[in-house]
Amino acid sequence: MLIDGHGRVVNYLRVSVTERCNFRCQYCMPEKPFSWVPKENLLSFDELFKFIKVAIDEGVNKIRITGGEPLLREDLDKFIATIHNYKPDIDLAITTNGFLLPEVAQKLKDAGLKRLNISLDSLKPAIAAQIAQKNVLSHVLEGIDKALELGLKIKINMVPLKGINDSEILDILEYARERDIRVRYIEYMENSHANSEIKGLFGKEILEIIKTRYTIKKIGRVGSSPAFLYEIAENGYKFGLIDPHKHDFCEDCNRIRLTAEGHLIPCLYFDEAQSIAEAIKDNNIDKATDILKDVLANKPKENRWDENQNEDSSRAFYQTGG
Ligand code: 5AD
Ligand code: SF4
Repeated sequence: MLIDGHGRVVNYLRVSVTERCNFRCQYCMPEKPFSWVPKENLLSFDELFKFIKVAIDEGVNKIRITGGEPLLREDLDKFIATIHNYKPDIDLAITTNGFLLPEVAQKLKDAGLKRLNISLDSLKPAIAAQIAQKNVLSHVLEGIDKALELGLKIKINMVPLKGINDSEILDILEYARERDIRVRYIEYMENSHANSEIKGLFGKEILEIIKTRYTIKKIGRVGSSPAFLYEIAENGYKFGLIDPHKHDFCEDCNRIRLTAEGHLIPCLYFDEAQSIAEAIKDNNIDKATDILKDVLANKPKENRWDENQNEDSSRAFYQTGG
Protein backbone atom coordinates (compact mmCIF):
# COMPACT_ATOMS: atom_id res chain seq x y z
CA MET A 1 0.00 0.00 0.00
CA LEU A 2 1.21 3.52 -0.80
CA ILE A 3 0.78 6.01 2.03
CA ASP A 4 1.78 9.65 1.77
CA GLY A 5 3.39 11.91 4.34
CA HIS A 6 -0.03 12.86 5.75
CA GLY A 7 -1.30 9.29 6.17
CA ARG A 8 -3.46 9.26 3.03
CA VAL A 9 -3.62 6.04 1.03
CA VAL A 10 -2.67 6.78 -2.58
CA ASN A 11 -4.21 4.26 -4.99
CA TYR A 12 -4.98 6.44 -8.02
CA LEU A 13 -2.51 7.27 -10.78
CA ARG A 14 -3.29 9.69 -13.60
CA VAL A 15 -1.07 9.26 -16.62
CA SER A 16 -0.83 12.02 -19.22
CA VAL A 17 0.28 10.32 -22.44
CA THR A 18 0.67 13.50 -24.50
CA GLU A 19 0.38 17.25 -23.97
CA ARG A 20 -0.68 17.70 -27.60
CA CYS A 21 -4.28 18.45 -28.36
CA ASN A 22 -6.51 18.86 -31.40
CA PHE A 23 -8.58 21.50 -29.52
CA ARG A 24 -7.47 24.90 -28.23
CA CYS A 25 -9.94 25.37 -25.40
CA GLN A 26 -9.74 28.96 -24.28
CA TYR A 27 -9.52 27.94 -20.62
CA CYS A 28 -6.57 25.64 -21.20
CA MET A 29 -4.35 26.50 -24.15
CA PRO A 30 -2.18 29.52 -24.88
CA GLU A 31 -3.38 32.00 -27.48
CA LYS A 32 0.05 32.62 -28.90
CA PRO A 33 1.90 30.10 -31.03
CA PHE A 34 3.88 27.74 -28.89
CA SER A 35 5.98 24.65 -29.27
CA TRP A 36 5.33 21.23 -27.86
CA VAL A 37 7.80 19.17 -25.92
CA PRO A 38 9.85 17.37 -28.59
CA LYS A 39 8.61 13.84 -29.23
CA GLU A 40 11.99 12.34 -28.27
CA ASN A 41 11.51 13.64 -24.71
CA LEU A 42 8.34 11.59 -24.27
CA LEU A 43 8.46 8.23 -22.60
CA SER A 44 7.44 5.37 -24.87
CA PHE A 45 4.41 3.29 -23.91
CA ASP A 46 6.81 0.51 -22.86
CA GLU A 47 8.58 2.94 -20.54
CA LEU A 48 5.35 4.39 -19.15
CA PHE A 49 4.10 0.87 -18.55
CA LYS A 50 7.27 -0.05 -16.64
CA PHE A 51 6.44 2.69 -14.17
CA ILE A 52 2.75 1.82 -14.11
CA LYS A 53 3.72 -1.73 -13.14
CA VAL A 54 5.73 -0.37 -10.22
CA ALA A 55 2.74 1.71 -9.13
CA ILE A 56 0.30 -1.20 -9.48
CA ASP A 57 2.61 -3.54 -7.60
CA GLU A 58 2.79 -0.96 -4.79
CA GLY A 59 -1.00 -0.69 -4.53
CA VAL A 60 -2.40 1.54 -7.27
CA ASN A 61 -5.74 0.11 -8.41
CA LYS A 62 -7.19 3.01 -10.38
CA ILE A 63 -5.59 4.51 -13.48
CA ARG A 64 -6.82 7.33 -15.65
CA ILE A 65 -5.24 8.14 -19.00
CA THR A 66 -5.24 11.87 -19.75
CA GLY A 67 -3.50 14.39 -22.03
CA GLY A 68 -3.58 16.85 -23.75
CA GLU A 69 -5.85 14.72 -25.83
CA PRO A 70 -4.87 11.09 -25.16
CA LEU A 71 -6.62 9.72 -28.28
CA LEU A 72 -4.04 11.54 -30.40
CA ARG A 73 -1.33 9.17 -29.29
CA GLU A 74 -0.91 6.30 -31.69
CA ASP A 75 -1.53 2.79 -30.36
CA LEU A 76 -3.28 4.02 -27.25
CA ASP A 77 -5.60 1.01 -27.41
CA LYS A 78 -2.59 -1.33 -27.22
CA PHE A 79 -1.27 0.58 -24.21
CA ILE A 80 -4.66 0.26 -22.51
CA ALA A 81 -4.76 -3.45 -23.32
CA THR A 82 -1.29 -3.90 -21.80
CA ILE A 83 -2.40 -2.30 -18.54
CA HIS A 84 -5.70 -4.18 -18.55
CA ASN A 85 -4.02 -7.53 -19.20
CA TYR A 86 -1.52 -6.96 -16.40
CA LYS A 87 -4.33 -6.46 -13.90
CA PRO A 88 -7.82 -6.91 -15.35
CA ASP A 89 -9.58 -5.65 -12.23
CA ILE A 90 -7.86 -2.29 -12.39
CA ASP A 91 -10.31 0.61 -12.65
CA LEU A 92 -9.15 1.92 -16.02
CA ALA A 93 -10.55 5.17 -17.39
CA ILE A 94 -9.73 7.93 -19.83
CA THR A 95 -10.41 11.67 -20.02
CA THR A 96 -10.93 12.87 -23.57
CA ASN A 97 -12.43 15.70 -25.59
CA GLY A 98 -14.34 13.00 -27.50
CA PHE A 99 -13.50 14.25 -31.00
CA LEU A 100 -11.86 11.02 -32.17
CA LEU A 101 -14.19 8.70 -30.31
CA PRO A 102 -16.45 7.79 -33.24
CA GLU A 103 -13.46 6.03 -34.84
CA VAL A 104 -11.74 4.57 -31.79
CA ALA A 105 -14.41 3.83 -29.16
CA GLN A 106 -14.76 0.19 -30.24
CA LYS A 107 -11.00 -0.42 -30.12
CA LEU A 108 -10.80 1.15 -26.67
CA LYS A 109 -13.59 -1.01 -25.38
CA ASP A 110 -12.01 -4.14 -26.81
CA ALA A 111 -8.76 -3.14 -25.08
CA GLY A 112 -10.48 -3.23 -21.68
CA LEU A 113 -11.46 0.39 -21.13
CA LYS A 114 -14.50 0.78 -18.86
CA ARG A 115 -15.06 4.46 -18.29
CA LEU A 116 -14.65 7.80 -20.04
CA ASN A 117 -14.90 11.41 -18.94
CA ILE A 118 -15.75 13.61 -21.90
CA SER A 119 -15.64 17.41 -22.00
CA LEU A 120 -18.87 18.97 -23.26
CA ASP A 121 -19.02 22.71 -22.75
CA SER A 122 -21.84 23.59 -25.13
CA LEU A 123 -24.59 22.06 -27.23
CA LYS A 124 -24.49 24.94 -29.71
CA PRO A 125 -22.08 24.38 -32.59
CA ALA A 126 -20.94 28.03 -32.70
CA ILE A 127 -20.31 28.27 -28.95
CA ALA A 128 -18.52 24.91 -28.86
CA ALA A 129 -16.38 26.21 -31.74
CA GLN A 130 -15.71 29.46 -29.92
CA ILE A 131 -14.50 27.63 -26.81
CA ALA A 132 -12.45 24.90 -28.53
CA GLN A 133 -11.39 27.29 -31.32
CA LYS A 134 -12.40 24.61 -33.80
CA ASN A 135 -15.64 23.20 -35.17
CA VAL A 136 -15.98 20.22 -32.86
CA LEU A 137 -19.51 19.65 -31.66
CA SER A 138 -20.90 17.12 -34.13
CA HIS A 139 -17.90 14.80 -33.69
CA VAL A 140 -18.09 15.03 -29.91
CA LEU A 141 -21.82 14.26 -29.80
CA GLU A 142 -21.31 11.38 -32.19
CA GLY A 143 -18.49 10.14 -29.97
CA ILE A 144 -20.72 10.22 -26.90
CA ASP A 145 -23.45 8.30 -28.74
CA LYS A 146 -20.97 5.71 -29.90
CA ALA A 147 -19.53 5.18 -26.43
CA LEU A 148 -23.04 4.84 -24.95
CA GLU A 149 -24.00 2.38 -27.66
CA LEU A 150 -21.00 0.24 -26.70
CA GLY A 151 -22.00 0.28 -23.05
CA LEU A 152 -19.04 2.34 -21.87
CA LYS A 153 -19.67 4.38 -18.73
CA ILE A 154 -19.52 8.11 -19.35
CA LYS A 155 -19.28 11.26 -17.31
CA ILE A 156 -19.48 14.71 -18.83
CA ASN A 157 -17.35 17.66 -17.70
CA MET A 158 -18.55 21.20 -18.30
CA VAL A 159 -16.56 24.34 -17.45
CA PRO A 160 -19.10 27.20 -17.27
CA LEU A 161 -17.71 30.53 -18.54
CA LYS A 162 -19.34 33.90 -18.04
CA GLY A 163 -21.13 35.21 -21.11
CA ILE A 164 -20.04 32.24 -23.23
CA ASN A 165 -21.78 29.02 -22.18
CA ASP A 166 -23.32 29.91 -18.81
CA SER A 167 -26.77 30.06 -20.42
CA GLU A 168 -26.42 26.34 -21.22
CA ILE A 169 -25.91 24.97 -17.72
CA LEU A 170 -29.47 23.63 -17.63
CA ASP A 171 -29.37 22.45 -21.25
CA ILE A 172 -26.31 20.33 -20.53
CA LEU A 173 -27.97 19.01 -17.39
CA GLU A 174 -31.03 17.90 -19.36
CA TYR A 175 -28.87 16.40 -22.11
CA ALA A 176 -27.01 14.33 -19.52
CA ARG A 177 -30.11 13.42 -17.53
CA GLU A 178 -31.92 12.13 -20.62
CA ARG A 179 -29.00 9.81 -21.30
CA ASP A 180 -28.47 8.84 -17.67
CA ILE A 181 -24.96 10.32 -17.71
CA ARG A 182 -23.48 12.14 -14.73
CA VAL A 183 -22.53 15.75 -15.48
CA ARG A 184 -19.90 17.48 -13.39
CA TYR A 185 -19.60 21.25 -13.49
CA ILE A 186 -16.01 22.32 -12.99
CA GLU A 187 -15.16 25.82 -11.79
CA TYR A 188 -12.80 27.48 -14.20
CA MET A 189 -9.31 27.39 -12.70
CA GLU A 190 -7.33 30.49 -13.56
CA ASN A 191 -3.98 29.73 -15.14
CA SER A 192 -1.45 31.68 -17.12
CA HIS A 193 -1.95 29.59 -20.30
CA ALA A 194 -5.61 30.43 -20.72
CA ASN A 195 -7.16 33.36 -22.55
CA SER A 196 -6.85 36.13 -19.96
CA GLU A 197 -10.24 37.60 -20.87
CA ILE A 198 -12.33 34.65 -19.76
CA LYS A 199 -14.05 34.39 -16.42
CA GLY A 200 -15.54 31.33 -14.82
CA LEU A 201 -18.60 30.94 -12.64
CA PHE A 202 -18.25 30.07 -8.99
CA GLY A 203 -19.92 26.89 -7.81
CA LYS A 204 -22.50 28.98 -5.97
CA GLU A 205 -23.47 30.77 -9.17
CA ILE A 206 -23.80 27.47 -11.04
CA LEU A 207 -26.12 26.14 -8.33
CA GLU A 208 -28.21 29.32 -8.42
CA ILE A 209 -28.87 28.77 -12.13
CA ILE A 210 -29.94 25.16 -11.56
CA LYS A 211 -32.19 26.32 -8.73
CA THR A 212 -34.17 28.49 -11.14
CA ARG A 213 -35.68 25.24 -12.45
CA TYR A 214 -35.21 22.67 -9.71
CA THR A 215 -34.97 22.08 -6.00
CA ILE A 216 -31.59 20.63 -5.20
CA LYS A 217 -30.49 18.54 -2.24
CA LYS A 218 -26.91 18.24 -1.05
CA ILE A 219 -25.58 14.70 -1.04
CA GLY A 220 -21.86 15.11 -0.44
CA ARG A 221 -18.62 13.78 -1.73
CA VAL A 222 -18.33 10.07 -2.39
CA GLY A 223 -14.98 8.46 -1.59
CA SER A 224 -12.01 10.47 -2.79
CA SER A 225 -13.81 12.14 -5.68
CA PRO A 226 -13.32 15.91 -5.80
CA ALA A 227 -16.92 16.32 -6.99
CA PHE A 228 -19.59 17.31 -4.47
CA LEU A 229 -22.81 15.55 -5.45
CA TYR A 230 -26.26 17.13 -5.53
CA GLU A 231 -29.62 15.53 -6.25
CA ILE A 232 -32.55 17.12 -8.03
CA ALA A 233 -35.56 16.60 -5.78
CA GLU A 234 -38.06 16.56 -8.67
CA ASN A 235 -36.52 13.64 -10.57
CA GLY A 236 -33.69 12.09 -8.53
CA TYR A 237 -30.99 12.98 -11.06
CA LYS A 238 -27.56 13.49 -9.50
CA PHE A 239 -24.91 15.90 -10.73
CA GLY A 240 -21.50 16.90 -9.42
CA LEU A 241 -19.76 20.19 -8.76
CA ILE A 242 -15.98 20.45 -8.64
CA ASP A 243 -14.86 23.48 -6.74
CA PRO A 244 -11.07 23.59 -6.68
CA HIS A 245 -11.07 27.08 -5.17
CA LYS A 246 -11.80 25.34 -1.90
CA HIS A 247 -9.56 22.56 -0.76
CA ASP A 248 -11.99 20.52 1.25
CA PHE A 249 -11.35 17.49 -0.94
CA CYS A 250 -7.60 17.49 -0.28
CA GLU A 251 -7.90 15.60 2.99
CA ASP A 252 -9.07 12.50 1.09
CA CYS A 253 -6.79 12.98 -1.90
CA ASN A 254 -5.68 9.60 -3.22
CA ARG A 255 -3.98 10.61 -6.47
CA ILE A 256 -0.65 11.33 -8.11
CA ARG A 257 0.11 12.28 -11.69
CA LEU A 258 2.67 11.12 -14.21
CA THR A 259 3.37 13.29 -17.26
CA ALA A 260 4.32 12.05 -20.72
CA GLU A 261 7.90 13.14 -20.02
CA GLY A 262 8.05 11.09 -16.84
CA HIS A 263 7.53 13.79 -14.23
CA LEU A 264 5.80 12.53 -11.14
CA ILE A 265 3.60 15.28 -9.73
CA PRO A 266 2.16 14.95 -6.22
CA CYS A 267 -0.46 17.69 -6.59
CA LEU A 268 -1.82 19.81 -9.43
CA TYR A 269 -1.12 23.06 -7.61
CA PHE A 270 2.38 22.34 -6.44
CA ASP A 271 5.38 23.15 -8.50
CA GLU A 272 7.71 20.44 -7.33
CA ALA A 273 7.94 17.25 -9.39
CA GLN A 274 10.55 14.52 -9.75
CA SER A 275 11.44 12.67 -12.90
CA ILE A 276 11.31 8.91 -13.11
CA ALA A 277 12.48 8.98 -16.75
CA GLU A 278 16.14 8.16 -16.10
CA ALA A 279 15.40 5.38 -13.62
CA ILE A 280 12.93 3.79 -16.03
CA LYS A 281 15.24 4.13 -19.04
CA ASP A 282 18.01 2.49 -16.96
CA ASN A 283 15.60 -0.24 -15.97
CA ASN A 284 16.31 0.67 -12.36
CA ILE A 285 13.02 -0.36 -10.77
CA ASP A 286 14.30 0.11 -7.21
CA LYS A 287 15.22 3.70 -8.02
CA ALA A 288 11.82 4.34 -9.63
CA THR A 289 10.13 2.90 -6.53
CA ASP A 290 12.25 5.13 -4.27
CA ILE A 291 11.32 8.21 -6.29
CA LEU A 292 7.64 7.29 -6.12
CA LYS A 293 7.85 6.94 -2.32
CA ASP A 294 9.80 10.17 -1.99
CA VAL A 295 7.24 12.10 -4.04
CA LEU A 296 4.49 10.67 -1.85
CA ALA A 297 6.32 11.54 1.36
CA ASN A 298 6.37 15.15 0.15
CA LYS A 299 2.82 15.32 -1.20
CA PRO A 300 1.38 18.59 0.15
CA LYS A 301 -1.45 18.50 2.64
CA GLU A 302 -3.60 20.87 0.61
CA ASN A 303 -3.44 22.39 -2.81
CA ARG A 304 -1.54 25.67 -2.90
CA TRP A 305 -4.22 27.40 -4.86
CA ASP A 306 -4.68 30.26 -2.36
CA GLU A 307 -0.99 31.10 -2.44
CA ASN A 308 -0.99 31.08 -6.22
CA GLN A 309 -4.24 32.89 -6.71
CA ASN A 310 -2.78 36.28 -7.49
CA GLU A 311 -0.15 35.12 -9.88
CA ASP A 312 -2.11 32.20 -11.42
CA SER A 313 -0.90 28.66 -11.60
CA SER A 314 1.84 28.26 -14.17
CA ARG A 315 1.57 24.55 -14.83
CA ALA A 316 -0.56 23.91 -17.89
CA PHE A 317 -3.60 21.65 -17.74
CA TYR A 318 -2.69 20.23 -21.10
CA GLN A 319 0.54 18.91 -19.57
CA THR A 320 -0.96 17.44 -16.43
CA GLY A 321 -4.33 16.30 -17.69
CA GLY A 322 -6.31 18.45 -15.23
N1 5AD B 1 -10.33 25.00 -15.43
C1 5AD B 1 -11.21 24.00 -15.18
N2 5AD B 1 -11.23 22.86 -15.86
C2 5AD B 1 -10.33 22.70 -16.83
N3 5AD B 1 -10.12 21.68 -17.68
C3 5AD B 1 -9.07 22.00 -18.47
N4 5AD B 1 -8.61 23.23 -18.16
C4 5AD B 1 -9.38 23.68 -17.15
C5 5AD B 1 -9.41 24.89 -16.38
N5 5AD B 1 -8.55 25.87 -16.59
C6 5AD B 1 -10.94 20.49 -17.69
C7 5AD B 1 -11.51 20.17 -19.06
C8 5AD B 1 -11.56 18.67 -19.07
C9 5AD B 1 -10.68 18.23 -17.94
C10 5AD B 1 -9.55 17.41 -18.39
O1 5AD B 1 -10.16 19.38 -17.34
O2 5AD B 1 -12.77 20.68 -19.25
O3 5AD B 1 -12.86 18.20 -18.92
FE1 SF4 C 1 -7.39 20.02 -25.27
FE2 SF4 C 1 -8.61 19.31 -23.03
FE3 SF4 C 1 -7.10 21.48 -23.09
FE4 SF4 C 1 -9.41 21.48 -24.39
S1 SF4 C 1 -9.14 21.28 -22.16
S2 SF4 C 1 -7.44 22.21 -25.17
S3 SF4 C 1 -9.54 19.39 -25.07
S4 SF4 C 1 -6.38 19.41 -23.35
